[in-house]
Amino acid sequence: MELEKHSYDVVVVGAGGAGLRAAIEAHESGARTAVVCKSLLGKAHTVMAEGGIAAAMANLYPEDNWRVHFRDTMRGGKMLNHWRMAQLHAQEAPDRVRELEDWGALFDRTPDGLISQRDFGGHRYARLAHVGDRTGLELIRTLQQRTVALGIDVYMECTVTRLLTNDDGITGAFGYWRESGRFIAWQAPSVVLATGGIGKSYKVTSNSWEYTGDGHSLALQAGATLVNMEFVQFHPTGMVWPPSVRGILVTESVRGDGGILKNSAGNRFMFDYIPDFFRKETAETEAEADRWYDDKKNNRRPPELLPRDEVARAINSEVKAGRGTPHGGVFLDIASRRSADYIRKRLPSMYHQFKELAEVDITAEAMEVGPTCHYVMGGVEVEPDTEAARVPGLFAAGEVAGGMHGSNRLGGNSLSDLLVFGRRAGAAAAEHAQGRAGRVDLPDEALADAGRAALAPFDREGGENPYTVQHDLQQTMHDLVGIIRTAPEMEQALERIEELKARVANLSVEGHRQYNPGWHLALDLPHMLIVSECIARAALEREESRGGHTRDDFPGPVEEWGRTNLICTPTPDGGVAVRRQPLPQMPPELAEIFEEVS
Ligand code: FUM
Repeated sequence: MELEKHSYDVVVVGAGGAGLRAAIEAHESGARTAVVCKSLLGKAHTVMAEGGIAAAMANLYPEDNWRVHFRDTMRGGKMLNHWRMAQLHAQEAPDRVRELEDWGALFDRTPDGLISQRDFGGHRYARLAHVGDRTGLELIRTLQQRTVALGIDVYMECTVTRLLTNDDGITGAFGYWRESGRFIAWQAPSVVLATGGIGKSYKVTSNSWEYTGDGHSLALQAGATLVNMEFVQFHPTGMVWPPSVRGILVTESVRGDGGILKNSAGNRFMFDYIPDFFRKETAETEAEADRWYDDKKNNRRPPELLPRDEVARAINSEVKAGRGTPHGGVFLDIASRRSADYIRKRLPSMYHQFKELAEVDITAEAMEVGPTCHYVMGGVEVEPDTEAARVPGLFAAGEVAGGMHGSNRLGGNSLSDLLVFGRRAGAAAAEHAQGRAGRVDLPDEALADAGRAALAPFDREGGENPYTVQHDLQQTMHDLVGIIRTAPEMEQALERIEELKARVANLSVEGHRQYNPGWHLALDLPHMLIVSECIARAALEREESRGGHTRDDFPGPVEEWGRTNLICTPTPDGGVAVRRQPLPQMPPELAEIFEEVS
């Protein structure tokens, strides 16, 4: 088998914010480092975190500090977050933002010249450092520039299909060049997974084509565990019209900057959906909510700024009750509340997105929006300080890692997450590699086996078409494991997933290996299926509603489940087993913060 081989200390899979930050840290720690990414460098889903980076910098509110950010994050996650990850994240995020600025990121400023911070759902104070509504783009631009300047090797348009291991842990990775279809392998004692999420398993998603759960699935196959995969975030506001753009993100900044949600009867319906958990801090009348914009210190927040799970469920209920817009969403109105100049300055991407894609002028008309699959809170179970997975030499950072966000992520916390934990993963991966580099082997048989598996779809004739199988999987997850779930529906989803597995085993593709998207999809589909099975099995097991997991048949949170993580492991027959594991207990000095801050 023709194969290109390379040797590194650390191989980072994924070039979004977490991957690039990990690579920079590993390189600066002295490790020979490579980044491998499916797309061109710079085209990362990180750019879809538009509104900002959450960090308690206290630029607008001196009262803000890591303790309040920690509390908000834990409450947003309905207390299922790994406390240590939430603590590290809140403590280190401000330094990561300042570091980004040192590296050339140009943030919007306050009148005093400090980094500007905006409001987002679930954050007590205006806390999101931002660049208009293009923050993720600026973050990627900055990290990309630094990666290139440091001379880190980048393998672009290259997909990893398998992690290689021996009895001591990671030995490297195997993949193919998308353009030529040729195989490539990296020998390395440390691999950092930074592959992002799983959104392409759903029909309506803000995620781009790369988000096929590769890292989750590669980790499982290598012997790592996944935690709390049932928690999937539906961002409340995606575009709903025209059909070709359904699911594209409409940033939460629209609501943070004054936008309100209305149903087809013109009612500002979020007042009807304030949960008891957030009642104390949420305005209950329009007059009270409007006062908040003028004096944020002494008034309660508008209900549009409740955490995302609450807002997405409310929109879903309005549409189901027949109070939706003609295209099955609700109205998001900023035009009647802010000047055209303000909107164009603060939300330039949204202005252009609606103008160009939907012929809607958001400075004059309301947008039509509805929930879109945006983020998975579940992921590889990692040790919080190092991001080490259960397989020696394997690390995971960013969306592919689980635990940090509990059952629901607050907006803005993903950009800070990937900087904080990307850096930590890169440092730990470099340390792990010390003394091991060059001592790991890639046995020919393992490489040949990976190659045969990758080429199998070419050997079958008249089998299943990958695009049809992908469509059926997305429809299944959308219909049966979406925002609102029931046991019979999820059982049906699992039956369909079994059928889809049989079809995936019979996928066939035509043509040859040079840039063949049908073949690429055929190699992604097993990943998509396994993560879908993890989501459905864990969701069936968790008999309560919490954050990004709502059961119609178990409508409220259950105390015992609030102390329980669900862990997915692979079974010998290619399936998934789910077991319960106690949530790590928060130390008393952190538990006290909840009293102190409230
Ligand atoms: O709405 C947004 O701008 C998305 C941000 C995020 O997911 O953190």
